[in-house]
Amino acid sequence: MNAADILKLYKNSENDALIAAADEVCRNVYGSKVYLRGLIEFSNICNIDCLYCGIRKSNKEVKRYRLSEDEIIDTVSSGTKYGFKTFVLQGGEDPYFTTPVLCGLVEKIKKINPEAAVTLSAGIRSCESYRLLKEAGCDRYLLRFETSDPELHKYLRNGVTLNERLKALDNLRKYDYEVGSGFMVGLPGETEETRIQNALLCRDYNFDMVGIGPFIPHPSTPLADALQMPLELAIRSVALVRLFLPEANIPATTAAGSLSSAGRERMLAAGANVLMPNITPVKYKKDYELYPGKICLDESGFECAGCLEGRVLSVNKFITYERGDSAGFLHGKSAVS
Ligand code: 5AD
Ligand code: FES
Repeated sequence: MNAADILKLYKNSENDALIAAADEVCRNVYGSKVYLRGLIEFSNICNIDCLYCGIRKSNKEVKRYRLSEDEIIDTVSSGTKYGFKTFVLQGGEDPYFTTPVLCGLVEKIKKINPEAAVTLSAGIRSCESYRLLKEAGCDRYLLRFETSDPELHKYLRNGVTLNERLKALDNLRKYDYEVGSGFMVGLPGETEETRIQNALLCRDYNFDMVGIGPFIPHPSTPLADALQMPLELAIRSVALVRLFLPEANIPATTAAGSLSSAGRERMLAAGANVLMPNITPVKYKKDYELYPGKICLDESGFECAGCLEGRVLSVNKFITYERGDSAGFLHGKSAVS
């Protein structure tokens, strides 16, 4: 399908036709496979103040934590025993995690599990930092652009511009990362046109991974009174991005599962092919509250992996413990934009 056909399907068809088309495209590339990533939320200390985020710097109600190196390594070791072949280290913009500290961590993880892919989600950094982290063994980097509307972006991110974010995504490409990005759906001030532009931006950057989640207003943020938009908008965005990027890895996000009990399954049926069980030690999980109602706070990530086995079957998919690089990246097709 060309771009015009895809947009026509998005704008004019019944939901079911859009979702069925995205599901078909996803199955043509990835079959019925769903890849698992072990997510480790290593610090909720954050130096920035995005209006939507529960762990923003100004939220004084958050109990702040930072995992020790031993805690991170122990978590990776347990994940390795369980069979995980991707670890995603995600944190707030915590100044403790300098490039040398992160490089040391990546090297240790690669020693424990040389087969595994390491993904970092640790904010905008310098080119030198990206270079050193890649050299240390980091394979993938996640940096959502959050919204493609430049004005809205600047407002919601408290002055940080969309251009800075996009420049950082360009820089990551230069160092040969598998590059992941994505956006929230249902932000106050967003329109249907914003959502279309979000998907087109993903296509233009040819991202290897795209995380899409519903925005869920957090009571201790300036957006506490924002309206909760229906999950369906995020599901439709997943389908649209899948049609534009047949080979990308697209997670069924925890935010979708938090907003609705079958939210992740709905994303898996609309073109998503990845799940990211949260393997952060349980005692810290509740403090990484980006949005209220986050699921799986009392379960270990390994209990979640078991639970997810059953859930994916309901949409005729199955979990595989392969590393799951993005098909586009493997084909070396990712464009340097
Ligand atoms: N609702 C949903 N998702 C959120 N994120 C941050 N705050 C919220 C919220 N209130 C998302 C952002 C960020 C990712 C880690 O979590 O997209 O990039
Ligand atoms: Fe965590 Fe079901 S996925 S308990």
